[in-house]
Amino acid sequence: MTDIDPSVYREVQRRRTFAIISHPDAGKTTLTEKLLLFGGCIEVAGAVRGRKSQKAATSDWLELEKQRGISVSSTVLTFEYDDVCVNLLDTPGHHDFSEDTYRTLMAADCAVMVLDLAKGIEAQTEKLFRVCALRQIPVITFVNKVDRPGIEPLELLGEIESKLGIEPIPQNWPIGFGPDFRGLVEIRSRRAFLFDDRDGDRRITGRETSLAGLTGEGVPPELATQAAEEVELLESVSQLDMQAFAAGKASPVFFGSALTNWGVEHFLRGFLALCPPPGNRNSDLGPIPAARSAFAGFVFKIQANLDPRHRDRVAFLRVCAGRFEREMEVLHPRTGKRLRLPRAHRVFGQDRETMDEAYPGDIIGLVNPGEFRLGDTLCVGAPFEYEPLPQFSPEMFAVLRCPDTSRRKQFERGLTQLLEEGAIQVFADPQRARREPILGAVGVLQLDVVKFRMESEYGAQTSVNWLPYKLARWVGDVPNGGKELRLAYGARLVQDQWGQPVVLFQSTWDANYAAGENPTARFSAIRIPPAPATSTGKKN
Ligand code: G4P
Repeated sequence: MTDIDPSVYREVQRRRTFAIISHPDAGKTTLTEKLLLFGGCIEVAGAVRGRKSQKAATSDWLELEKQRGISVSSTVLTFEYDDVCVNLLDTPGHHDFSEDTYRTLMAADCAVMVLDLAKGIEAQTEKLFRVCALRQIPVITFVNKVDRPGIEPLELLGEIESKLGIEPIPQNWPIGFGPDFRGLVEIRSRRAFLFDDRDGDRRITGRETSLAGLTGEGVPPELATQAAEEVELLESVSQLDMQAFAAGKASPVFFGSALTNWGVEHFLRGFLALCPPPGNRNSDLGPIPAARSAFAGFVFKIQANLDPRHRDRVAFLRVCAGRFEREMEVLHPRTGKRLRLPRAHRVFGQDRETMDEAYPGDIIGLVNPGEFRLGDTLCVGAPFEYEPLPQFSPEMFAVLRCPDTSRRKQFERGLTQLLEEGAIQVFADPQRARREPILGAVGVLQLDVVKFRMESEYGAQTSVNWLPYKLARWVGDVPNGGKELRLAYGARLVQDQWGQPVVLFQSTWDANYAAGENPTARFSAIRIPPAPATSTGKKN
């Protein structure tokens, strides 16, 4: 079972699978577009942005998307650069931020953290960073918008360290920033790249010189001196400890400007040199080697097609081991069934194409007539299950009601189905006689999708009654299901779908108060659910 297959090994070594974490407007879309340009995936700058802004006009298949002008369906962008196959997993942001954004990070081997030089570490970046830290995946930082006025770069490094607890290791350094920006110095080689055009050309353009030769190239002496002093200072700390990087404790930092394309290819090359290829993943049978010949992967996202003409679901599977081939028969350990996978797709934005072969690091879309659940493992050979996907604290809570009692059954069936798919989280309050389920979502889109699907798929009109809670904390190490916890007025003890005690809080202050008042209890914003009851190797 653990044989290494040389042809799979070769493919593993040339794959890089990563996600971008950022706060809205930091420049994720612009950077993605520039990376795709280098990868030859799109011909002109503006194509991705064009899709983003024209979506409401061009997409006629996704009603909700039309109404909201957002994308709920993009998943992975694949491109080749220098014979490396790069899979960029899309992490929905803005209004379509949802639990899927977090789960996508479970499928990535590395994250690129895009920061806006003017804004530093913002809320959404920090949240996503915490998820990366949970998995201890390497994080590479791209500080964007150096052409705009911002925080002193040295100050930003301090903020990365103090807010995120990760050591920033600059790989290049800006010569001035904002209107003074003149170019970038590669710290290790002390080579300087001076940029003199602003036409957003595809390649790093401009002159190359040495750090000592900056003034001779027309850089004002005060900028040249400052850059030389800072590089001097940073040289002693710019050695990246690869072990600390691999464990998510140190982050190489690249400066640049995605919009003007300054430093992007430099970053891409640095990124490809640093981002690890797919590694071995843990399972209930221990680590499973990526380069073995037998295929295995897990479902990290289920996407319902909201188009009534094509009401299918696509389960997105991250290949973690072996070679996937179309039509292959795989084992579905949770149900013990054997399945043939004839309809596997590569998904590029909204376009699908049939996929004949895939390797670790790749994402395949499986048209799913309902048999897959989030976190499910599919494998060939001896059955096993990869580690379960964690659950993340929702940030909005509501009671969903179905006023039409004649649709009650459909409503409940729909809710169960959506819960299984991971479209929403459900909590129950055992104290209340009327056991209305409390729905928890990370972003408002999640609830919109549930409401929309309840009506269109299950014929159940629903009304949403918002609750005042803003976060949930799973509670561990408490007797009596948490009934004796000392909580601030307004906090509510409920149970998750597995009967685990969870407290819903109206503010972070309330949550901190509860932690202080109950020092022996463990409050946690992320929970690893129990492994599902399966028919895996352990039981056979
Ligand atoms: P996001 O996906 O992270 O939300 O950010 P996005 O790329 O959409 O960028 C947000 C805004 O920041 C855009 O401006 C974009 O042009 C700008 N931007 C991105 N990178 C840079 C950079 O390196 N330098 C400068 N100066 N600006 C940058 P916008 O006005 O909101 O949109 P648009 O009119 O340019 O499309």
